[in-house]
Amino acid sequence: MNVHAPALATEHQLDDATSVFAGDVIEDLAQHPKKLSPKYFYDAKGSELFEQITVLPEYYPTRTELSILRDRGKEIAAIIPHGAALIEFGAGATTKVRLLLKRCQFGAYVPVDISGDFLNAQADGLRKDFPDLDVYPVAADFTAPFELPAAISGMPKVGFFPGSTLGNFEPHEAAAFLRTARKILGDGAQMIIGVDLEKDERTLYDAYNDKAGVTARFNLNVLERINRELGGNFDLSGFMHRSIYNKDRHRIEMHLISRKAQNVRVLGHSFSFRPGESIHTENSYKYSLERFAELARGAGWKVTESWTDKARMFSVHALVASD
Ligand code: AVJ
Repeated sequence: MNVHAPALATEHQLDDATSVFAGDVIEDLAQHPKKLSPKYFYDAKGSELFEQITVLPEYYPTRTELSILRDRGKEIAAIIPHGAALIEFGAGATTKVRLLLKRCQFGAYVPVDISGDFLNAQADGLRKDFPDLDVYPVAADFTAPFELPAAISGMPKVGFFPGSTLGNFEPHEAAAFLRTARKILGDGAQMIIGVDLEKDERTLYDAYNDKAGVTARFNLNVLERINRELGGNFDLSGFMHRSIYNKDRHRIEMHLISRKAQNVRVLGHSFSFRPGESIHTENSYKYSLERFAELARGAGWKVTESWTDKARMFSVHALVASD
């Protein structure tokens, strides 16, 4: 035996991001009930599966929000000052922001996302298609305060938070996020935000239980990611996807249900599952126009416009900083 071999860290040398992931997973699986944060869905495979979700026949939010942004483009452009800086919280596909950039005369675009590499690739694509636009990507966790680039300090600020990402936050976290955004963007700022609406249970249920099973694969992928990145030994066939609408709390809940009694090991920690035991992997809160307006009001914003589609499936709101 080589006595100079480095002590135990050998099996998994974790980089910073992976250590945070590891810490969260070990803490969250030790909870009762067990949970995992939905932010960990989005590794390369999860992001690809999410893109597939957005075009499923049952998943109405993405195409409905796009149709609202398209149909209301003129009205949105009319309320945005020329030369404003557009600050997007989280940066996924650029389809939605391209709609705004095409219609409105923005002076700068500031995508903010934790994943720097992805951000820079997106920025390059936009620079090519909008050669007059200054793009200043910021690699940061947008749920915490961060500095805006100095180059936009003189410009009016417009926040952009599409996709009903707000729905992943608990209501108190959603309020805290809006308050932080208000502080970062400053006095006189505006915000364009997409929020999924409460609706009949069947439509909501089907959107998160698609026939093709893509949402199930998306949900299960978080266990695969734990196996891949943290050397976990989840048996994927031992868990099943379940989404339910919790009407009292106005939210879709996604769970992974253990099909049997089993033990799972992750980085030297052991977690035991009872048959039928759940890992709660996501909440997706749904708002009424009134409940959203009230949430925004309590967080330093006034709703100036609320646009919806004909069937009232989804909403896009224009906010202006109050007080
Ligand atoms: C990206 C959080 C808006 O809640 O609808 C889609 C994620 N989860 N299908 C949503 C999701 C399952 C999505 N958000």
